[in-house]
Amino acid sequence: MSHSDGLPITATSSKARPLSGSVRVPGDKSISHRALMFGALAVGQTRVTGLLEGEDVLRTAEAMRQLGATVHRDALGTWTINGVGIGGLSEPNDVINMGNAGTGARLLMGLLATYPMTACFTGDASLRSRPMKRVMTPLSQFGAEFMARDGGRLPLCMRGNAEAAPVTYTVPVASAQVKSAVLLAGLNIPGTTTVIEPVATRDHTERMLAGFGAEISTEDTENGGRIITLVGQPELHPCDITVPADPSSAAFPAIAALLIPNSEIVLTDVCTNPLRFGLFDTLREMGADITLENQRTIAGESVADLRIKSSTLHGISVPADRAPSMIDEFPILAVAAACADGTSRFNGVEELRVKESDRFTAIVDGLSACGVSVEADGDDIVIHGSTSSAPKGGATIAANLDHRIAMSYIILGAVSEAPITIDDVRSVDTSFPGFATLMNSLGLTIS
Ligand code: S3P
Repeated sequence: MSHSDGLPITATSSKARPLSGSVRVPGDKSISHRALMFGALAVGQTRVTGLLEGEDVLRTAEAMRQLGATVHRDALGTWTINGVGIGGLSEPNDVINMGNAGTGARLLMGLLATYPMTACFTGDASLRSRPMKRVMTPLSQFGAEFMARDGGRLPLCMRGNAEAAPVTYTVPVASAQVKSAVLLAGLNIPGTTTVIEPVATRDHTERMLAGFGAEISTEDTENGGRIITLVGQPELHPCDITVPADPSSAAFPAIAALLIPNSEIVLTDVCTNPLRFGLFDTLREMGADITLENQRTIAGESVADLRIKSSTLHGISVPADRAPSMIDEFPILAVAAACADGTSRFNGVEELRVKESDRFTAIVDGLSACGVSVEADGDDIVIHGSTSSAPKGGATIAANLDHRIAMSYIILGAVSEAPITIDDVRSVDTSFPGFATLMNSLGLTIS
């Protein structure tokens, strides 16, 4: 896998020998985007180590430069951001191209919704197909105006409103991106912005804004939701941030080690925020031998080293209200379910249809093509796994610009009878640069 010439690059993975070793997967994508954005809004210099240097995050770094912040990487990989202060962003003089990055695009639209400026956003074919109405609707309540393609798709232009009154918004779908967009809009106006979420979603925005000195509070509701209130126009103080390893990336070596007999690996510094840890909780319920070692807190986030030993897994029914805490992990969980004993059901996973690709279809059609018994049942995915016979494999999978689909089927290839080929793995660089090298260092065979 090499990504220099801009042409599609295929990857093939074949049945692997036992995995061993200790590795650190790259930094958390969600935290990295936010570190750059909030650093740009602080007064003074924020330093970030362990930033994910994947393409999605590099797009956010470039966008923050377009908005007037100074963003610099030193030779040792420490990033410094000289922020302009709340209200200090300047109008971008060109279209902001967010590439594949849905989080970057939606959070920035929130941020700019209360600035008196015009900004235009575009992205790659995947991002241009994703729904933006889910942020346009609440941001319109702040008086921001949008002109978008049919169906609320990019490219779009927006005009923010600095005279906005704060908003109270109930998020209709469980989405940390929508929640964060509304909170970020509230940053630049006086008064208290409130977001009510029916199901708690990842809370990196809340934790990190608090770390930068914003007045933000969270209240749990009786039925598993949250109410978040943010007082606008805080003075944000620069921070030193160490980005933990991304649990969504750790999922790939973790499941490979669980499924390949006689494996034992350690994944260091993984973010164990409970709102990101649904996959690991689920795997343990399936019988996975996963131990958390060296548990600690870094930059307001819980972190641990994960020791993972190969295990015999059994099928599971994943409740719908757990989905937000593992929303990006269903494609790789599907691989585990295919190799687990009995039936697994992923309940209420319709959100998978609007990710970097239609992951619902990519799971059902891709597993089927690899000889796994799988079906769609309304908004549920049902997988009939087997521990006695490995998936047949032997298929070529279209990644459709979706990094997690590409990586999931690479792992499936490592436990299937026949190799699996991915038509184009360039998207892997959006979240997991060095994926093939890291996985091969543990013992996989990705060519
Ligand atoms: C993210 C939130 C999730 C997730 C995405 C990152 C974030 O999206 O899928 O990869 O950083 O806030 P939704 O909030 O839209 O579910």
